[in-house]
Amino acid sequence: MSDINIIPNSTIYFKSALLLPSIVDFSNKKVVIVTSNSVKDYALSILDKFLNNNITAYAYYLPDGENNKNLENALNLTNFLSEKGISRSDILINVGGGTVCDLGAFVASVYMRGIKYVNVPTTLLCACDAAIGGKTAIDLNGYKNFWGTFYQPFAVIIDCDFISTLSDQLITYGLSEIVKYAILDAEFCSKLDKINNLNEIKQNLQQILYHSLSIKAEIVLEDERDYNKRKILNLGHTIAHAVESSSNYEINHAEAVAFGLLIESKLAYELSIISNNRLNSIINLINKFLSTNITVQINDLIPFMLKDKKNLQGKIAFSLPTENSAETVYLTTNQTTKLLEKIL
Ligand code: GLY
Repeated sequence: MSDINIIPNSTIYFKSALLLPSIVDFSNKKVVIVTSNSVKDYALSILDKFLNNNITAYAYYLPDGENNKNLENALNLTNFLSEKGISRSDILINVGGGTVCDLGAFVASVYMRGIKYVNVPTTLLCACDAAIGGKTAIDLNGYKNFWGTFYQPFAVIIDCDFISTLSDQLITYGLSEIVKYAILDAEFCSKLDKINNLNEIKQNLQQILYHSLSIKAEIVLEDERDYNKRKILNLGHTIAHAVESSSNYEINHAEAVAFGLLIESKLAYELSIISNNRLNSIINLINKFLSTNITVQINDLIPFMLKDKKNLQGKIAFSLPTENSAETVYLTTNQTTKLLEKIL
């Protein structure tokens, strides 16, 4: 499988993370592996490779969970980097899921005005989205991804041998973002239409990931800073982020995105953006792979949707499916509430 260039100097490698010391030039550099307890063994095996190659390397453990993607942990990591004498020429390697990759990348982007970093996503969900494209983030004041920067990893390592060992539940969580790409891209959608169950997903994991990331890379290349085209990658996410935040992250990102894709597709239908046929084919795709069993109160979601980063002039932004892809639509609070009352 060939590598994917996202933008110049940011490459996605489909390789074992144990090969990292030979993929990237680490000579005269110190390395900090930012990780979490849930993938400790894997992170330590990568650390060993550096130590065996006489590269100074440290492991730093973040607590697991979106609730920990906060300023306090960003400061703790910053202090660790400073204590270890990490300089601008050194390298940070994020080995973990969305929390590790978002927070580690955020700190990398601001530490001494920015040091190089590599993402090694350890969940399918993170491999499909958070690890790719240079959006860094921490949550702030209860709002998801409220602080962040655009700062590209100079390498992303997709270790399919590791990802294919994940539990069925973690693979299913990753499918939320994969189904999103299928809604955005007709060719990928027909590929996914031919796949019937989780086993077939696992058998074709590398090709599915490659196709998903190629779709994302092309969009990021066109609009890295999220001014236009890239907004379509937020399909399902206006509802999803509000659901996650209002549940205090008890509902995780993958569950919330699955629900968000369903509700926002229904919104698109109610607004006559998509036909009944298109809505039904999206619903079939969602039902084949995802669970959307979530109960929410509209009034709990609205305050969080009003803080969505995509909003314009007080209107709530949604990236809604079209017949072939997606487009951004702005709705007043009143319109949003009325439509959601009809749908939910
Ligand atoms: N997660 C959406 C994006 O990377 O733009």
